[in-house]
Amino acid sequence: MKDNEIKLYYKKKIDEINKHNKLYFENSSPEISDKEYDEIKKKILDLEKKYSFLKSALSPSNSLGYEPSKNFVKSKHRVKMLSLSNAFDIEDLKNFEKRIFNYLNKKIQIEYSVEPKIDGISASLTYKNGLLVKGTSRGDGTLGEVITENLKTINDIPHRISNKDFPKDIDIRGEVFITKNDFKKLKNDFANPRNAASGTLRQKNPSETKKIPLNFIAYTYGYIANDKINKQSDFLSLLKKWGFKINEHNKILKNLSDLINFHKKFENNRFDLEYDVDGLVYKVNSLELQKRLGFTANSPRWAIAHKFSADSAYSKITDISIQVGRTGALTPVARIKPVNIGGVVVSNATLHNEDEIIRKDIRIGDTVKIERAGDVIPHVILVDFKKRDKKSKKFLFPDACPSCGSETIKEFNRVTKKYDAVRRCTNEGYDCEKIAIEKIKHFISKEAMNIDGLGKKVVENFWDLNLIRLPQDIYSLDYDKISNLDGWGDLSVSNLKYSIDQSKNVSFDRFLYAIGIRHIGIENARLLAEYAKSIKNFMSFISEKKLNEFLNIDGIGDTQINSLKKFFNNKLNYSVIKKLSSILNISDLKINKKGKLLNNTFMFTGKLSDMSRAEAKSLIEKNSGSVVSSVNKKLNYLIIGEKPTNRKVEQAKELGIKIITHKEWLSLLD
Ligand code: IVH
Repeated sequence: MKDNEIKLYYKKKIDEINKHNKLYFENSSPEISDKEYDEIKKKILDLEKKYSFLKSALSPSNSLGYEPSKNFVKSKHRVKMLSLSNAFDIEDLKNFEKRIFNYLNKKIQIEYSVEPKIDGISASLTYKNGLLVKGTSRGDGTLGEVITENLKTINDIPHRISNKDFPKDIDIRGEVFITKNDFKKLKNDFANPRNAASGTLRQKNPSETKKIPLNFIAYTYGYIANDKINKQSDFLSLLKKWGFKINEHNKILKNLSDLINFHKKFENNRFDLEYDVDGLVYKVNSLELQKRLGFTANSPRWAIAHKFSADSAYSKITDISIQVGRTGALTPVARIKPVNIGGVVVSNATLHNEDEIIRKDIRIGDTVKIERAGDVIPHVILVDFKKRDKKSKKFLFPDACPSCGSETIKEFNRVTKKYDAVRRCTNEGYDCEKIAIEKIKHFISKEAMNIDGLGKKVVENFWDLNLIRLPQDIYSLDYDKISNLDGWGDLSVSNLKYSIDQSKNVSFDRFLYAIGIRHIGIENARLLAEYAKSIKNFMSFISEKKLNEFLNIDGIGDTQINSLKKFFNNKLNYSVIKKLSSILNISDLKINKKGKLLNNTFMFTGKLSDMSRAEAKSLIEKNSGSVVSSVNKKLNYLIIGEKPTNRKVEQAKELGIKIITHKEWLSLLD
């Protein structure tokens, strides 16, 4: 068979298996026997093994190929299930501690709870009055899938706990995983133990889950009723007492050099463990300190995952292509001869940006070392210059955007006084095809409009079929045309309609984030939304050219304002938002209306003792107040720290604003 014919045949098999997946998972009416199903699957896996150029996101070798998520009822986590930020080297760890010291405005000796990071999937177990009443997967961190019955099949998970000191209402969280030994039996079905655990746990039928020996190790809590626990390590001991398994290698360590030594030792011995571990988690042991440190948008400030070094392999670069991202960033990607790195076939590696190519002098035809760690995109570590062809030429980065032909530039960063490493397309918006597609993908993503059923691949597909060009097109899709497309049945079309309809009710901050303005991430969108209160107000700020007023918001600076200006200078951007606001029901931001500082604004001048500005700001916000960054009539309190700016104090006096000390301010808080 020719390559083309093989590809066609492979695609036919993939379509076939996905049709049967749908029949089995969604419709619960399989048309073929398990044996026949396994035969199709085996054929696909054999083909993939034989021909490395075959690859499909929908392949059964990729656990993400079929996510039967629609089968499970969703439930909102009482406390979000966040992820951890990663440290790859000592520098990252030093920065982690530095950020803690900055936030606390003080250097202290920190005690850490050190725990192996098992590479499985996390689950949350809700116990009320000692009874396991609900079990959920992490889902998107906010909404999880209810998989109680599946979790109950795991031996390590107690169904009832009768210890007197077990909290009346608690979410216990931990990792579900499969041992390396048990994985051997499933090797043909899944790429790695993690996928095997995930796939098994989310079977529609719990008796299927029971067939595979899953394990559970507990390590934290989400919601907890009246906790009197002081340390993470104490909580771990309690977990053990209550009948949960905890990791036998958990440890308490006191400073960075001890952490680093332990990491080194553990990394060398990790292959002797019965399960896959991809790093160590360091958590500030004091729960009180954890509370003070709190969270950034995605991860806690008080914990970090120190990853083990990655698997690597050598391969040859066959081509370098340039991807265009949502904000116009041009990312070079090396296409490489497919190579197996730690159990996963890799055929692309990121080259990060133009500077990286110049610095490492990476060229088409080069033999390079490629590294892959966990979910991180594989990247090129070094070039083997000895193997370089004498005739090879330097790679020339394109001057024009490969998608729309616009000029590309490297921006000058006024803070670092350097040019950015990243080159960008200057086209602001939907006129550049690649940017437009990426913008739409962002628009539908989980943290944005959260349109389930309209994944990235579907967006690309709908784009190719001319079904969407702008975000608003999502709300007038041609469903007749879609239901005639390959792979779309009545059920999936009605699911798509439903999730698109659901997304029409959206809060203002989410909407603002969804539009995808550069430098306006989740956190900044929330700040802007809180200030403007409604989309109507926000649009009048734009039309009356009053964007500079947003500089009043603590956290919004020139970078964000300039980006907003640039964005709204583009007529198409403006009309997209107008159009969307007529289609959607964008609700004003619900602000916690209970706090003691509601409707009060604060500003700081001078250094605070034992607390950073960031922590002080978060305390004010927890009490429903807000922090502004200039003295004007709208300011209620000026808080004075050490060495305040005289000009600000004078201005405040003139305007009759209350001037208070750090201590007086603390007494206003709840
Ligand atoms: S704590 C807010 N502890 O790592 C932090 N996570 O990227 C909550 N994990 O989704 C996580 N071992 O699946 C924590 N001892 C441990 C862990 C651990 C593995 C996983 C977990 C989580 C991911 C975070």
